[in-house]
Amino acid sequence: MNPNSLVTIDDISKDEMLAILKEASFFEEHPNHRILEGRVVATLFFEPSTRTRLSFETAVNRLGGRIIGFSDASTSSSSKGETLKDTIKMVSNYVDLIIMRHHLEGAARYASEVTDVPVINAGDGANQHPSQTMLDLYSIYKTQGRLENLNITMVGDLKYGRTVHSLLMAMRHFNPNFRFVACEELKMPVEYKDFCDKNGISYTEYTDFSPEVINTSDIIYMTRVQRERFSDLMEYERVKNIYTLHNAMLDNSRENLRILHPLPRVNEISQDVDDNPKAYYFDQARNGLFTRQALICRALGINPLNIKTNDD
Ligand code: CP
Repeated sequence: MNPNSLVTIDDISKDEMLAILKEASFFEEHPNHRILEGRVVATLFFEPSTRTRLSFETAVNRLGGRIIGFSDASTSSSSKGETLKDTIKMVSNYVDLIIMRHHLEGAARYASEVTDVPVINAGDGANQHPSQTMLDLYSIYKTQGRLENLNITMVGDLKYGRTVHSLLMAMRHFNPNFRFVACEELKMPVEYKDFCDKNGISYTEYTDFSPEVINTSDIIYMTRVQRERFSDLMEYERVKNIYTLHNAMLDNSRENLRILHPLPRVNEISQDVDDNPKAYYFDQARNGLFTRQALICRALGINPLNIKTNDD
């Protein structure tokens, strides 16, 4: 296993997180810092994606590297029965870094263990999405001016939403006060509540997305109900429309409140929120480019701040 692999958010220490945020800020100023000349990166997406794949690929292109890979596993030999192990070992012959999304929890860990090439987990089932977490942290820091002591309200599918699992773990360094708003079927899993207990993180669970919760939040993190993770689609139909944020619900919210969402959204944020200055989800997705540039550098053992290029 390559020590620079990023499988879970726990692979990044607090100091490293802060360094990555600093580098992301540098890349926001210098997006075309061409330091990946001669490097080839694979993006292997066994599950659909818009933002994660395209922002990683844009990141590599803007850094001057090159990309190979697939966005649809049915076009790869996995559709002929090739194992994940064999696919990873083959691709490792060609590239310097593998970025992989897979529907199975633990697939990124497994991939990282069968190759010496660094692997970045771009989402494994309902488990983890660490690169999303780094762009979430960057978005929180940019909008709040700090990461510490924030009231963070997570709403929707807290059971299957891998982004809330990774974000919860990352925030252990920053003394958050979490509110978990979910229906019984989609509550935050016990292992993540245990994680909060072990790390002294305060949290309260709600089934109501009430004005009291909204008006005392610094961050509201909306999530989509993950249809693709349900074994019983009748259950999905029952819970899919439980929480929708409308603009009028923000009338008495804090000035500093920002609405985040990893996207894609379905109907959990009404379109009338989009023009509210507190809506930050499209900027959040844009921040993914800069944080992923920093994460690619981390995986390849490059300190971008120490290298001068003609583009600076
Ligand atoms: N946030 C996120 O992972 O989006 P995509 O599924 O479009 O990559």
